[in-house]
Amino acid sequence: MTGIQHLQKVVVGIIIFLTICLCCVESQFPRVCTTEASFRTKSCCPLWKDKSPCGSLSGRGRCRSWITKQKIPQHDDDRLDWPRHYYDYTCECYGNYSGFDCGDCKFGYHGEKCDRKKMIIRREIRELSVVEQKRLFSYLALAKTTKSQDFVVLSTGDRHHRETYRFVDASLYDVFAWMHYYSMKPVMINSTFDPNKNYAHQGPAFPGWHRLGLLFLERQMQLMTGDEDFAIPYYDWRGEKNCSICTDELMGSNDAQGVLNPYSHFSFWKAICSGFNFPDEYCPLADAEYKMERLHRRPGTTPYAPNLPTFEDVENALKLKDFDTPPFNETSLRSFRNSLEGFLAPDGITLKRSLHNLVHIYLGGTMSQIPISGNDPIFILHHGFIDKIFDTWISRHNGSPETYPENNELGQGPDDCCTPYFPCYKNKDLIRKSTEFGYEYSPFHQKRPLGWKSLQ
Ligand SMILES: *[C@@H]1O[C@H](CO)[C@@H](O)[C@H](O)[C@H]1NC(C)=O
Ligand SMILES: *[C@@H]1O[C@H](CO)[C@@H](O)[C@H](O)[C@H]1NC(C)=O
Ligand SMILES: *[C@@H]1O[C@H](CO)[C@@H](O)[C@H](O)[C@H]1NC(C)=O
Ligand SMILES: *[C@@H]1O[C@H](CO)[C@@H](O)[C@H](O)[C@H]1NC(C)=O
Repeated sequence: MTGIQHLQKVVVGIIIFLTICLCCVESQFPRVCTTEASFRTKSCCPLWKDKSPCGSLSGRGRCRSWITKQKIPQHDDDRLDWPRHYYDYTCECYGNYSGFDCGDCKFGYHGEKCDRKKMIIRREIRELSVVEQKRLFSYLALAKTTKSQDFVVLSTGDRHHRETYRFVDASLYDVFAWMHYYSMKPVMINSTFDPNKNYAHQGPAFPGWHRLGLLFLERQMQLMTGDEDFAIPYYDWRGEKNCSICTDELMGSNDAQGVLNPYSHFSFWKAICSGFNFPDEYCPLADAEYKMERLHRRPGTTPYAPNLPTFEDVENALKLKDFDTPPFNETSLRSFRNSLEGFLAPDGITLKRSLHNLVHIYLGGTMSQIPISGNDPIFILHHGFIDKIFDTWISRHNGSPETYPENNELGQGPDDCCTPYFPCYKNKDLIRKSTEFGYEYSPFHQKRPLGWKSLQ
């Protein structure tokens, strides 16, 4: 049984009132590009402050049509060949400029002219001082409750008929959770879903997609709070006997039913798209706040995922030299990506739940339903650490865009735009040292077995 199929069984087993998880995907749309005129002209080239599309008069970028090189098979999936189903014209930003309208800077750059380079440090959540932890929780509360000015999410709609789409407001954090859901919804080919294919998992795009997701949220939270130093923390779960950050001071404790303690920070958070079995539609509950479910977590209670991964597991996965291997899906052997993603044991030869997937299942509840797992903020701490391991692999094996393999997974080619981000980030361009994106990871000196060195 494959990983995602197994996850589906878990969902059915644990949460009987939900039916099979078909998948999830998330995608944010620039609000200014969801007008009737934008869809009619298939153009998302917003006017910048200088009143020119993509700030072209100020040399920030240009509005261009993205020509596809490869022939796309006949399809009826709105996300394939992103973002061509929606827009033929989007911004291409020059130099240090970025953002859907080239009004923002590339990750790691700041200032009106984007010429101020800045490096931030992502630290282990337990390394933060109490004041820093409090700041983190207040920023997250703000992100969860403040409507995103720039982005809306796709709510209902039959995938085959663009005119049925409806775009709705969401908070910044919900836009993030939605993006994960939207890109993870299975690919539909010839009116049939293929549950083994999506745009963010089960293929070489996995590490880069999640890296970009964290960068997106981190940047948007910096803009929202005006705090350029804000860095997403991580959770180093290696060798943990239990989820030691699942306390009320940090991510929250839970009762036997998985309900978070009402005195913890996230007990009142509700999950967008929580009843996520929407075969043809997108998340019809996105704008029905009252129907959203509370977060759930049940660490350590899933019989087939009783432990978190060990130090040795991570070290062994890091020894795998090949970034990814044919057939570039969840059956790939000797593939660092497949081992990190957790369909392959760190030995490189046994198809068995490990690292990333194991932690999701171990944590249980919302986190174990991968499509909606982004709703639980422990997701960003987990993916912070997954990204740290990815970055360590890049350093040790000289990973670069050339390392990213040609492959036949839809939307996961080296030159495909990572779905569903704006502007276009090519999948291959996410294999670079984190310092090129303006952040680095602290080493984490917790007590650990003798002889294990820090991941740096
Ligand atoms: C980008 O920022 C760097 C560092 O601040 C600066 O030296 C460089 O000139 C900028 N590049 C462009 C194209 O503006
Ligand atoms: C979809 O169906 C058409 C017509 O039956 C077929 O030619 C095509 O190969 C199919 N596409 C895929 C990707 O299976
Ligand atoms: C992986 O790819 C191989 C070769 O294309 C294919 O036969 C197999 O069905 C795929 N497995 C999954 C789980 O996607
Ligand atoms: C983890 O285990 C330790 C030691 O058994 C215990 O003191 C602690 O309360 C547990 N923490 C959680 C969050 O379950």
